[in-house]
Amino acid sequence: MARTREQWERRPPLPSTHYLDTRLYTDEALFSEERDKIFGHVWFIACHESELPGRFDYRTFQHPAGPGLVLIRGKDEQVRAFFNICPHRGNQLVYEPAGSARALTCIFHAWTFDDRGQCTGIARGKEGYQDRIGQQDLGLRAVRCQVDVGGFVWVNLDDEAPPLSSYIGDALRTLEPHLQQPLQVFHYQKLAVKTNYKLWHDTNSELYHDYLHHFNRVTGMLQPGYFERKYTTFPNGHASVGSMQVRYDSYAGGGDRSIGWPELSPGGWLLVDLFPGMTLNLRTSVLRMDSVTPVAPNLTIIELRGLGLASDTPAERAERVRDHNTIWGPFGRNLHEDLLGVSGQGRAMQSADSGSRWVLHGREEDMTIHDECALRHFYAEWSRRMGRSSSDPFSQPSGEGTASSAPPGRPA
Ligand code: FES
Ligand SMILES: [Fe+2]
Repeated sequence: MARTREQWERRPPLPSTHYLDTRLYTDEALFSEERDKIFGHVWFIACHESELPGRFDYRTFQHPAGPGLVLIRGKDEQVRAFFNICPHRGNQLVYEPAGSARALTCIFHAWTFDDRGQCTGIARGKEGYQDRIGQQDLGLRAVRCQVDVGGFVWVNLDDEAPPLSSYIGDALRTLEPHLQQPLQVFHYQKLAVKTNYKLWHDTNSELYHDYLHHFNRVTGMLQPGYFERKYTTFPNGHASVGSMQVRYDSYAGGGDRSIGWPELSPGGWLLVDLFPGMTLNLRTSVLRMDSVTPVAPNLTIIELRGLGLASDTPAERAERVRDHNTIWGPFGRNLHEDLLGVSGQGRAMQSADSGSRWVLHGREEDMTIHDECALRHFYAEWSRRMGRSSSDPFSQPSGEGTASSAPPGRPA
């Protein structure tokens, strides 16, 4: 029977860790607090080293906490990151998404900077500043940057945050044996989706939505052992799912898949979700990496990368591209189904009076794939960092931030 408003707003008969207040996906104040308390302090993947293949190659990156960054591979081959802002009068230093230059030149007054962020030129500097300030006193603001497992380039805006190794912990252990050879990005796609960033990560963190995917139904769910695979959770909100064999032969048009991936059994699959918005998904012959940039509570930039081996021959690469596009390409079978799901959530949940009150994360199935333990694990970390309960975010925050009060007519 349909629920009356009073019934609808009643808390679900589940532990408070097993459901969410939907304002976590819609509230403006919570959103800006997340940028500060979460994204301002975590390690985050900015790109892959293969996207900066040569010395003096650079690439811009919109950090999820807000500021624009520029990443540069230096003369010494090391990748460094800087705030993409000129110290003269605050202009954006680099406008292009990517390029290569021995010196970065600000378009405004032509100041120049080298691959280490040092100022190397001030137009009419002596005339204007005499000896009061000079190149030696000026440079770009450095951001912590580290290339790690698989060649991903990580950044952290917080100079005091614990090191990357302790942030990741053992979360990438299952993937590491498969990421020992140099990788290369061959597919890059950037999407603006009207949904909350967490909803995309949620979808990557629960496999109960197998029912959404034709491909999963015909290649996976009918296989023995499919439902026995388990989630593993790791400190800092990360989670992974064990391997399975993908039955490409069951998929119309799938054909023979022989190329494979180093140390991965044929048709193997591994997935790791990294807090607060990155997913590494290794499926038979391709590694996919998702990362999110929250723009507004109901607007998210999703970057999707497909990676193969840097050593691929043209024929091998063509096969990986075909595998990738069959499933994850813009016209593939899987990606648009996920996007339909999360954009539908974004549409339905966008206003306080849309009728949405709670989101359930209550499935318990011994941490197997249709258990929602990875979602609960994510929101436990969200709560820890925000100092708020995810099922009751506006009651007596233990953190210092202030968020808006409950909308009129809605229980706090
Ligand atoms: S703002 Fe960059 S040189 Fe003036
Ligand atoms: Fe999906």
